[in-house]
Amino acid sequence: MNLVQAIEWAEGHHRRGMYTPIGVAFHWVMAALVIFQLGHGWYLSWQPVGGDKYLGYQTHTEIGLTIMVLGTLRFLWRSQIGTPDNVDEDSFAGRASHALQVWFYFSFFALPISGWVMWSTLPSDLPLSIAGVIPFPRLPFDQLSEALQFTLMQGAARAHVWIVWITALSIPGHAGAAVLHYLVKRDRVLQSMLDLNGPDEPGVVGAATDAGSRPPPLPR
Ligand code: HEM
Ligand code: HEM
Repeated sequence: MNLVQAIEWAEGHHRRGMYTPIGVAFHWVMAALVIFQLGHGWYLSWQPVGGDKYLGYQTHTEIGLTIMVLGTLRFLWRSQIGTPDNVDEDSFAGRASHALQVWFYFSFFALPISGWVMWSTLPSDLPLSIAGVIPFPRLPFDQLSEALQFTLMQGAARAHVWIVWITALSIPGHAGAAVLHYLVKRDRVLQSMLDLNGPDEPGVVGAATDAGSRPPPLPR
């Protein structure tokens, strides 16, 4: 499938108000990784200092860097392919939902980068890698003065924890809004991310461009 065919395939889903299976897979895999990473990160921060904590943080860096790579691929996919048009972007709900989505994309990069800065200022012989497979370099901070390394470490740690908290608080708002769309507005927003209709509906590749316009609201 070339890019033009991929865009046509994706637009077929978007015309039906659905995300593509690729968009859905990105969403749920990354949601699971971010939620795991938040819980595991807090769990580690409560552990006593020692070898287990240290090895735990190595796993933490591997998953965090994987989130950054997936976030990059997802951003590229979304910037080429777009998204379905389910919410009025000028309404308050539309603007709030857009702001949260922008925040999530920001966190996919800002968390790993602040973590990378922290890890690079720590005296450590544990290597960094993406998903434990692809080696990833440390930043060359060992050439800086100790005072500067300490300042960088403190700044990055503060940023990491702030972004962690804002992201953790944003998730229930984002998920709650999706559930409210389903229960109160009874529109297709939540289904768009679950892709319940499957690929046989009109509007997917090969269907006429006017086929597959948005389905009617769910019956009450
Ligand atoms: C999306 C990715 C990430 C999430 C959600 C995340 C989440 C967290 C959480 C919840 C904590 C505990 C914060 C606390 O002490 O209250 C933490 C700490 C930490 N994270 Fe991450 N993290 C991510 C990526 C990374 C990456 C990629 C690295 C390193 C390359 C990293 C390095 C660290 C370090 C060194 C700490 C310890 C901070 C301290 O004790 O002051 N993190 N992270
Ligand atoms: C860590 C957890 C989560 C993150 C980081 C996250 C992130 C995102 C992002 C960035 C989008 C924009 C679409 C895209 O770029 O692919 C999105 C859309 C969406 N998410 Fe999540 N999400 C999370 C959890 C959830 C949960 C738990 C639910 C449902 C209960 C949910 C439901 C939705 C829905 C329905 C959309 C489509 C909204 C629309 O098109 O207006 N998300 N999410």
